[in-house]
Amino acid sequence: MNTPTRSSVSEHARRNRALWTSYAADYAERAPRQWASEEITWGIWDIPETTLHVLGDVAGQDVVELGCGTAYFSSWLARRGARPVGVDVTPAQLATARAMQRRFGLTFPLVEASAEEVPLAGERFDLALSEYGASIWCDPYRWVPEAARLLRPGGRLVFLCNSAIMMLTGDELGRVGEQLRRPYFGMYRFEWPDDHSVEFHLGYGNWIRVLRTNGFTAEALVELQAPVGAIPPLDHIPPGWAERWPSEEIWVARKTL
Ligand SMILES: C[S@@+](CC[C@H](N)C(=O)[O-])C[C@H]1O[C@@H](n2cnc3c(N)ncnc32)[C@H](O)[C@@H]1O
Repeated sequence: MNTPTRSSVSEHARRNRALWTSYAADYAERAPRQWASEEITWGIWDIPETTLHVLGDVAGQDVVELGCGTAYFSSWLARRGARPVGVDVTPAQLATARAMQRRFGLTFPLVEASAEEVPLAGERFDLALSEYGASIWCDPYRWVPEAARLLRPGGRLVFLCNSAIMMLTGDELGRVGEQLRRPYFGMYRFEWPDDHSVEFHLGYGNWIRVLRTNGFTAEALVELQAPVGAIPPLDHIPPGWAERWPSEEIWVARKTL
């Protein structure tokens, strides 16, 4: 099921697709190592799922990954007996995902679409997942309702995004520091002057509100701490910062209504 885009694509999704087209070669280079990994790890600090326990047993589950990129996360779940479907808005990222499927002999459906409007039937997944995909690049008031529609009753939504504290200490280029530089109230849409991308980050009350409005109950918020001495893989996070404050967090929510 390698479907062309059938859904509409918002203005910010088009801008983000352009950015991700420009990053695709870089991500294609790291994809083989990520696909080859035996371990499930989360985020930029590669924290193992075996220490976080946010996913549980995924064997036999229908999983949709919203903003799958090169789909390494879906490949990890497929090897553990899940039936993933990867959704991404950027053809160049999906091209790498397809190349990895051929290289590793592991096939699952990939759908080219915005996670804000997914051309798949509702109530057909047990788990909706996003690691730095829809969770930061899509408008939460659009993608969370889509996740709710796609999930069966009792299904889970698990997503990783940046912490509010990290976003609030970032300067105009997102370089993180030790002072609050942005207002907390009203945090929502972030644009950067050095590219045309758009990110979305909410405060905690608003995350809980958008989850509840869409029939979810938040079960856990896991704040990720960088390992001691870890070298930040991204220039905008100073060494040691994420040992003291969370740069990333994982939300676990269940569709209860
Ligand atoms: C950082 S990657 C996430 C995948 C992987 N976990 C990773 O960290 O490399 C971000 C992905 O989100 C995708 N993306 C951005 N906007 C999207 C949208 N509106 N719908 C679906 N995918 C989107 C991009 O194309 C890109 O492949």
